[in-house]
Amino acid sequence: MSNIQDKVVVITGASSGIGEATAKELAAKGAKLVLAARRENRLHKIQSEIESKGGTAIYKVTDVTSQEQVKALAAFAITTYGKIDVMINNAGLMPLSPLYERKIKEWDTMIDVNIKGVLYGIAAVLPSMRERKEGHIINISSVAGHLIGPAGSVYSATKFAVRAITEGLRKEECINNIRTTIISPGAVASELPETISGLELKTAIDEFYMIAIDADSIARAIAYAIEQPSDVAINEMIIRPTRQEL
Ligand SMILES: NC(=O)c1ccc[n+]([C@@H]2O[C@H](COP(=O)([O-])OP(=O)(O)OC[C@H]3O[C@@H](n4cnc5c(N)ncnc54)[C@H](OP(=O)(O)O)[C@@H]3O)[C@@H](O)[C@H]2O)c1
Repeated sequence: MSNIQDKVVVITGASSGIGEATAKELAAKGAKLVLAARRENRLHKIQSEIESKGGTAIYKVTDVTSQEQVKALAAFAITTYGKIDVMINNAGLMPLSPLYERKIKEWDTMIDVNIKGVLYGIAAVLPSMRERKEGHIINISSVAGHLIGPAGSVYSATKFAVRAITEGLRKEECINNIRTTIISPGAVASELPETISGLELKTAIDEFYMIAIDADSIARAIAYAIEQPSDVAINEMIIRPTRQEL
């Protein structure tokens, strides 16, 4: 039996891209999914697709910038399935822009979703995982969490933060048998570049994304981290398109 079978997995940002692909990959391997995002119609459709293939999924509309909503998401998972084995803090956005443009609202949103959303996800699941002395928290960073480019200062700052938080979490919780994984994708085909509001920059990024790989590639990496025996932690992975130099 696969080490994914019957695991309860909560995924934020499950309504598209990497989150959606991961939900489908893990459902096919027998996990019980709890899908979270803001767009209910998407979540409903993905749940139906998973169920039509014999998988198990429930969903809860959740805005990760609300600590209360993320707490309620974890409570919903535990009420329904009795436990949370894996929390995947994946929700994120990437409205790139040079600092001089002072798109402060976009900075705030990135900080709220990409950093605070991850912290709220950790806060929501850590008590029950510590109690069970078992669990796995997977946080989605980026190659931009390793490198900084022009127009990427704030996005990179949020993704560096995800790596720092996850490594701190590892050091604090390894003693409690809680695994942590940082996933750092390169260019992956998804809706992510749609959050770039500057037309010129969006065009340049669309060009860069011509080499993007499918979200399934990241889903497979996440499945690999989850399916290891519980005494093995895959702490960090960078997954780039082969042709990506950055
Ligand atoms: N694609 C790439 O090239 C790439 C590379 C490196 C890292 N990443 C990271 O991978 C993660 C997933 O991105 P993706 O590429 O799959 O992009 P995506 O298709 O745009 O997915 C982003 C997801 O985040 C959700 N989301 C955004 N704001 C939210 C909020 N306030 N509350 C709850 N959910 C929210 C969106 O759902 P709703 O709009 O329905 O809420 C959506 O499901 C992000 O953290 C991103 O930074 C992506």
